[in-house]
Amino acid sequence: MDMDKIVSLCKRRGFLFQSSEIYGGLNGFWDYGPLGVELKRNLKEAWWRDMVAGHDDISTLPGAPSSYEMVGLDCTIIMHPQVWKVSGHYDLFVDKMVDCRTEGCKGRFRVDHIPSSECPLKPSKCPGAHDKCSLTEPRDFNLMFKTIIGALGGEEDAAFLRPETAQGIFVNFKNVLDSSRVRVPVGIAQIGKSFRNEITPRNFTFRSREFEQMEIEFFCHPSESRKWYEYWRNRRMKWWQDLGLSGSRLLLREHHADELSHYSIGTADIEYAFPFLPEGEFGELEGVAHRGDFDLRSHMEGKLDPNSKPNLQVQLGADGKPVHKGSGRDLTYRDDITNERFTPHVIEPSAGADRGALAILCEAYHEDSAPDDKGELQTRTVMKFHPRIAPVKAAIFPLVKKDGMPEVAQELYRALKKKFPVQYDEKGAVGRRYRRQDEIGTPYCLTIDGQTLTDQTVTLRDRDTLEQVRVKLADVVSEIEQRVSG
Ligand code: GAP
Repeated sequence: MDMDKIVSLCKRRGFLFQSSEIYGGLNGFWDYGPLGVELKRNLKEAWWRDMVAGHDDISTLPGAPSSYEMVGLDCTIIMHPQVWKVSGHYDLFVDKMVDCRTEGCKGRFRVDHIPSSECPLKPSKCPGAHDKCSLTEPRDFNLMFKTIIGALGGEEDAAFLRPETAQGIFVNFKNVLDSSRVRVPVGIAQIGKSFRNEITPRNFTFRSREFEQMEIEFFCHPSESRKWYEYWRNRRMKWWQDLGLSGSRLLLREHHADELSHYSIGTADIEYAFPFLPEGEFGELEGVAHRGDFDLRSHMEGKLDPNSKPNLQVQLGADGKPVHKGSGRDLTYRDDITNERFTPHVIEPSAGADRGALAILCEAYHEDSAPDDKGELQTRTVMKFHPRIAPVKAAIFPLVKKDGMPEVAQELYRALKKKFPVQYDEKGAVGRRYRRQDEIGTPYCLTIDGQTLTDQTVTLRDRDTLEQVRVKLADVVSEIEQRVSG
């Protein structure tokens, strides 16, 4: 798998562009082109449908300890600064960073990205392109983007762009439960933008400064949290596999006990062997974490941190020191059947929509051979997207631009277009038209030919098997609908 070829196809066919490209681009920011936006929307919609809107609240799903409910939420990107103080992001969401003083380099590096042989404490070789480096001492760099609220705002009006969507769910836990008649166990889901001022954004969209997350905070009884953790870990892995990441490039990696926070029973990463990584290395696509009652408890009670820095609307204690003050609200839950009151434990499956789309693009990329119009085998580039995720579901071709074929083809195009994205193409030899669709991953091509005019059937060509079957014109819409739905 050649990453350069994938990047080049993404630009050439309109999946991804560098943000603000005509001004030289902006490092760590990416725009989705006409096909990319469909791809990413399909991914997010599949997640929302499978996890939230289409979730069966009344049956016990395979592997689940019991039935459970799922609801959605859409919170603001800018929240009260105290949220980030209490969550720990304000003080602890930092990367250690070093700068290189070498003239001509002046690079900035994350300490954990520098191989140990090039450790800044024993500099021998610059992580930039230089033999000799002079690295500064490591220092903390907070990853949250800062902004100011209001026209006349000063430092005390500073606020942050959220670095994760999760906190919006925690602070709305009570609102959702009080307003929705849902009971624990319940999952609250959110898709939205998050922002991190990454020191070294890199590897295409993998490490961006603006990206989208698909997060679930699943609230359950503490005694059942281990079973729920196992359920979500397996369910989320299967979900990615069902979307086409089914090969050995996808991995479920359970964290070792010494990697876990003190409150956590387990964390697993769902990882993908992105082609820009060295052979045998995997990059995180989604984390599934058991978070205990840490988040709800923090937003109730807060905690005192003697090392925390004063600032903003963050509250100060009587001693003048900043206090990690919680909301003071009761975020416990009372089970109306057992009458038990408890602070729910949380299982958090947190996925990246951009990393998901990138993994799907990498997995889909294939080069094989297919016959051209003269029957000779030619190399073709084909994106083997799962039909559910493919940006264009079908392409409609009249074999020739005469004999009434375009009219029939256009009518079919309009009927299909009411249901999903399809393309109409009458330009060039039909083999070249197939090639264009293969390269953008269109799973089905429908050709109107001479036979259509006599028996009302069309050829349906499958992108992957190259098989062609004849389908009744009247059945085409339902046939494609059924093929792309699941
Ligand atoms: N609420 C938990 C949380 O945010 P995380 O592991 O920091 O956990 C979850 O992020 C997911 O968000 C990651 O698995 C990844 O897919 C995505 N993500 C995180 N940082 C990212 C970045 N800089 N660029 C693109 N995606 C990112």
